[in-house]
Amino acid sequence: MKDTVEITPANGKLGVLLVGMGAVSTTFIAGTLLIRKGLASPIGSLTQMGTVRLGKRNEGRSPLIKEFVPLASLDDLVFGAWDIFEENCYEAAITAGVLDVSMLEKVQPELEAIRPWPAVFDQRYVKRLMGTNVKTGANKREIAEQVRADIRAFKDTHNLDRLVMVWCGSTEIFMTPTAAHQSIAAFEQALESNADEIASSMVYAYAALKEGIPYANAAPNLSADIPALDQLALDNGSPVMGKDLKTGQTLIKTIVAPGLKARLIGVSGWFSTNILGNRDGEVLDDPESFKTKEESKKSVLDYILQPELYPTLYKDLCHVVRINYYPPRGDNKEGWDNIDLVGWLGYKMQLKINFLCRDSILAAPIVLDLVLFLDLAKRAGMSGIQEWLSFYFKSPMHAPGLYPEHDLFIQLMKLKNTLRYMRGEELITHLGLEYYD
Ligand SMILES: NC(=O)c1ccc[n+]([C@@H]2O[C@H](COP(=O)([O-])OP(=O)(O)OC[C@H]3O[C@@H](n4cnc5c(N)ncnc54)[C@H](O)[C@@H]3O)[C@@H](O)[C@H]2O)c1
Repeated sequence: MKDTVEITPANGKLGVLLVGMGAVSTTFIAGTLLIRKGLASPIGSLTQMGTVRLGKRNEGRSPLIKEFVPLASLDDLVFGAWDIFEENCYEAAITAGVLDVSMLEKVQPELEAIRPWPAVFDQRYVKRLMGTNVKTGANKREIAEQVRADIRAFKDTHNLDRLVMVWCGSTEIFMTPTAAHQSIAAFEQALESNADEIASSMVYAYAALKEGIPYANAAPNLSADIPALDQLALDNGSPVMGKDLKTGQTLIKTIVAPGLKARLIGVSGWFSTNILGNRDGEVLDDPESFKTKEESKKSVLDYILQPELYPTLYKDLCHVVRINYYPPRGDNKEGWDNIDLVGWLGYKMQLKINFLCRDSILAAPIVLDLVLFLDLAKRAGMSGIQEWLSFYFKSPMHAPGLYPEHDLFIQLMKLKNTLRYMRGEELITHLGLEYYD
């Protein structure tokens, strides 16, 4: 086997920089610590449990992904985070209320040692939050320099070899790209003049990319997906991916919708509603943050069902998405989907899905995979948008002029073929005529 791509080995420690130490981050950190002590299983993580078939179906070669490509070991991960609240990671995990206290106690000292650095925060971008652990500075450029200083200090203190940053902060208000986002020079000028167009998440993304660090956005807000930061990522060799982790209702939607389309079953309506009681739900109760989430959730069906190619089946689809903040449920979200279907000769049918999921339990393994795959991409010399990681996102970033690929199964095929490509293995097309020659 000859690697198509030269990959630097994963030697030394990998620093994981998390922006926001809420439900997702604490569940990811505590989970990883428990797993590496052998106290829990990494269920839901492709990098830890997934396999990749190599060669023909009758060759019997299906190694674990983590044995096929050189990924960082969980033992080598070191965690650092920023948050507007001063609670340490143990306290923040208790506040998030996702994992049982009895589980958290098993890694309590390690969690307590993770204390958040002061955050880049402006309430203009997240209306429902207020905290005191916040940086101050003359302008956003100076604050970005403070983030870079945090990153370097973290690297030195823990003797880290490499770093990855993931935005797991609250969903910021809906924004669209403007002139300030079009070039690195315009972006830096906007940092200097404290322009409103530069949201807090962009300041972190800029700091990471300036340091040549991979960056992922777990939330739906505009962040690294602007031309200025795209260019910076390419210039500095940083792989980037986002946006909005594909968990819960959208995960199910991207599993069911490709199946309906594959069998040419019409869909006239898809009504999705959720009740959610964690802090994320509280932030999304603000209409401006909800709009960001709504845009991200709604685009999925249009791309999967392709109404322009199948007007009879999907042209008049009525797609409604609701999120209701309902505190008694905490992180245990409940989603209902009512799907109005149209079959042979126009006869109507209905499908109801009631998903009682745990948001952060679905999100944590995705964060782990993104950290390990983005670090792999960096060591493989890949930079800019990593479309092969679309599998993990509701609004996958993509090259200009392309439409995003939302079908979970195509996304998985693309991801695994990328791994095969990296290691010089034959890509799998599923043609399979040779078995019948
Ligand atoms: N849980 C899921 O399944 C899921 C799926 C997709 C996307 N997301 C997104 O991931 C993000 C995190 O979700 P969560 O459930 O952990 O939310 P959360 O509210 O529990 O945690 C977010 C944390 O970010 C902090 N924060 C906000 N702005 C910050 C800033 N500028 N700098 C540093 N910290 C900041 C908050 O104080 C909070 O502790 C949200 O945007 C959410 O929409 C979550």
